[in-house]
Amino acid sequence: MHDNVILTGFMGTGKTTVGRLLAARLGCEFVDTDDLIVARAGRSVADIFREEGETRFRAREAEIAAELAGRRGLVVATGGRLMLDPDNAAALGATGPVFCLSAEPTDILTRVGAEADKRPLLSGDAPEARVRDLLHRRAAAYARFRPVETSGRAPEEVAEVIVALLAANLYESIPVRHPGGSYDVVVGENLLSDVPRSAGIDGPAAIITDDRVGPLHAAKIRMRKSGFNEPDTGSGPDKPGLSGVPILTMPAGERHKTLDTVRELYDGLLDAGLGRDATVIALGGGVVGDVAGFVAATYLRGVDFVLCPTTLLAMVDSSIGGKTGVDLPRGKNLVGAFKQPRLVSADIAVLATLPADEFTAGMAEVAKHGLIADPVLWQRLMAEEWRIDPRRLANERLLRADLQTLVARAIRVKRDVVEEDPYESGRRAVLNLGHTFGHAVEQVSGYAIRHGEAVAMGLAAAAHLSAALGECSPSLPDQVEAGLARLGLPARIPPMLDPAALHAAMGSDKKKKAGRLRFVLIRDIGDIVIRDDVPAAAVMAVLERVRGDIAPAPSLRE
Ligand SMILES: NC(=O)c1ccc[n+]([C@@H]2O[C@H](COP(=O)([O-])OP(=O)(O)OC[C@H]3O[C@@H](n4cnc5c(N)ncnc54)[C@H](O)[C@@H]3O)[C@@H](O)[C@H]2O)c1
Ligand SMILES: [Zn+2]
Repeated sequence: MHDNVILTGFMGTGKTTVGRLLAARLGCEFVDTDDLIVARAGRSVADIFREEGETRFRAREAEIAAELAGRRGLVVATGGRLMLDPDNAAALGATGPVFCLSAEPTDILTRVGAEADKRPLLSGDAPEARVRDLLHRRAAAYARFRPVETSGRAPEEVAEVIVALLAANLYESIPVRHPGGSYDVVVGENLLSDVPRSAGIDGPAAIITDDRVGPLHAAKIRMRKSGFNEPDTGSGPDKPGLSGVPILTMPAGERHKTLDTVRELYDGLLDAGLGRDATVIALGGGVVGDVAGFVAATYLRGVDFVLCPTTLLAMVDSSIGGKTGVDLPRGKNLVGAFKQPRLVSADIAVLATLPADEFTAGMAEVAKHGLIADPVLWQRLMAEEWRIDPRRLANERLLRADLQTLVARAIRVKRDVVEEDPYESGRRAVLNLGHTFGHAVEQVSGYAIRHGEAVAMGLAAAAHLSAALGECSPSLPDQVEAGLARLGLPARIPPMLDPAALHAAMGSDKKKKAGRLRFVLIRDIGDIVIRDDVPAAAVMAVLERVRGDIAPAPSLRE
């Protein structure tokens, strides 16, 4: 018996029609929760509302949700608000994927049209304004589920879209356009085995990974077309685990993001006899992605490149935008190239092996993307508990689903910015939110403080600076600090780091212009502004102000 498929979404988005078609396509039983309630109560939804009140109707919904959670192999169309109740969402969300159908307000009104009188929430004057208002108020709650747009699509087409997503284990496919073409960032579960096919690799290839990630995940990348074979079970991580496809393994860690590593990888590719028709598949965090991307950009003047990010940071940040490179002894990322991948495959399942502190550090970049451009993403971050042990991802479907929502939204923020500014000549500066302070913290601490933690401190400092300069409400810094603390991230710069030294480190940054610094400031959650005229004194005052003890290490919830 296979998983359930749950449909949610506002009224008039076609849950029942699409659900029936989907059930037929999948060979499943179809259940509509409203129909079930009406059948059992022996009266219409409107009558239940009128005679028993909304509370009793919600109680009936909860009973149905609990009951259906005990069954499998169903397609369930849920009443518009059923899945907005956290208990119902937990019960049904654990039984299978949840899709949220959406539609334009005018389409909703047309579709609901004739039966508007049966929809108690839509009764009264100015129905369109009412729909818009309700959609707006429920946006963050619906945003928990994977979106499927229905406007401009026939119900059959919507059902096909869902069938295709289910078949590929995909949450979402996010196209990224760049001057030379475009590529997709796919977000989903257990995607690695399908990477060679979805990237369209039909020639020779090599996997570049590190010595932590390789042993855990490299064998999952399997080729169905020529050039790859089933994994050869007996092989170790450094031997070619897939016959014909070498796995080149670099040591893990930023220390190895160097030209020496690059040279060794060139040798590995040459030893394997790979020519210009080869594809480099990067499997790892941002370090592997940056190194492998640089190798792909330069080996034989450039070969194809596919990214399989395995850290949260790499999924939402470093894998999008085409920047690759290595460090020199004199500084980070001093040598590099733009190299666009052919595909980025973000497989949420691999995050289950990520150390908890790496997971939390990655959340700083997710929070940054919410603050830059997506208030709903910020709300989703605040609505759930994200101080988690990533191992829970292995067997908690709802947690994986919630995380895919975050990752996909964060990717879209970065995508929108890099599409506008592919070669980092202007707009990309917004991605530096929190990073001017953050880089100074990293540098002055001698890189003892992890990037994500330094960025969190930088986000809090940027919020304080924004308030001091009158760009945002005085309460915003508290809101940002509380949000970071909730994610298990530090919002205060450790007192041992001297404010004058931090200030000097920022001044040495290229962003300085005639005693005034360039900063990305926050106007509100999801709304930022860049200012070139920030007085040094204001920055110094903030540095004095945000000193404090680092929050204790996050306690992990079981
Ligand atoms: N190119 C860009 O646009 C861009 C943007 C941001 C950051 N970066 C770069 O990204 C790098 C940081 O990336 P990162 O935070 O992913 O660090 P990382 O690549 O060093 O990974 C962190 C650690 O986690 C391990 N790891 C990775 N995935 C794992 C998994 N699934 N299970 C178990 N262990 C796993 C790694 O082996 C490593 O030890 C920096 O070098 C930074 O400069 C680049
Ligand atoms: Zn960063």
